[in-house]
Amino acid sequence: MDLGIQRETALVVGASEGIGYESAKGLLEEGADVLICSRNPSKLEAAARKLESATGRAVKWFAADVTVVAEVDALQQWLSKTVPSLHILVTAVGGSRRALFEELDDQEWLENYEFNVLGTVRIIRATLPLLQKSAAGRIVILGAAGARMPYPNQVVSNVHKAGLIALVKTLGAEFQKYKIRVNSVSPGRTLTSLWTTRAEQLAKDRGVATEQIIHEFSEEIPMGRFGEPEEIAAMVVFLASHKASYVNCQSILVDGGIARGLI
Ligand SMILES: NC(=O)c1ccc[n+]([C@@H]2O[C@H](COP(=O)([O-])OP(=O)(O)OC[C@H]3O[C@@H](n4cnc5c(N)ncnc54)[C@H](OP(=O)(O)O)[C@@H]3O)[C@@H](O)[C@H]2O)c1
Repeated sequence: MDLGIQRETALVVGASEGIGYESAKGLLEEGADVLICSRNPSKLEAAARKLESATGRAVKWFAADVTVVAEVDALQQWLSKTVPSLHILVTAVGGSRRALFEELDDQEWLENYEFNVLGTVRIIRATLPLLQKSAAGRIVILGAAGARMPYPNQVVSNVHKAGLIALVKTLGAEFQKYKIRVNSVSPGRTLTSLWTTRAEQLAKDRGVATEQIIHEFSEEIPMGRFGEPEEIAAMVVFLASHKASYVNCQSILVDGGIARGLI
């Protein structure tokens, strides 16, 4: 299937590893020109080189932390000097925080909000002029299945990821004046360092093997296993493509069936 994105320009934020990395790889394999961003410059440069050797395509990179306004401003300036327009924006920064309501203070709520919501808002704001110039831009935001089926012990990320669903619904309509489609992908449990780090910590706390933790969490998933980052990225690439030309304002679950609600 030809996704029709050859020579289009894409920015993937949160791309040095995990779902963002696989999304960048998938876009490159479909012929898009891809720029990548995340915080740690040496990790990001290594990811760019790895993507180049895997796909034979050049990859430009710029390090920025989405929680730091000055760094997002610097990214915006770099982009405006580097590309004439952007066709695709993928934001893959965020994460869950395991804590009960009574364990969280205002500062922790604000930090999580900045990481999961405001960072994404800033990146969209910074790239909107370039997306407008492409006259048919697409934004794909990484949300979480926890927004549709709130996980126990993750109140703060459940609330903030649900906010992203509202953001997608709102912007997908508001940005039609620019012909920009906005969608999100809501992953279930996916084997990236976000989850392996958590499983290692839980294993340490309980004095069991990490595989035991992964096995226990897998049992709650109808498909009986975690997702692989490239399985989430496949939906990101599809939504970013012209084959999804009538898909807008949607948050699509890619979760092995773990979110059990009817809608
Ligand atoms: N994995 C899962 O099970 C799962 C489940 C549901 C939802 N999701 C969502 O999917 C998205 C990607 O998750 P993932 O599992 O691929 O995460 P990951 O493996 O931890 O990768 C996160 C990426 O974002 C970058 N990053 C982190 N903080 C950043 C910041 N403040 N500014 C800029 N870049 C930053 C990281 O690089 P640096 O550290 O160098 O910045 C890395 O490239 C997130 O929105 C997450 O909430 C994941």
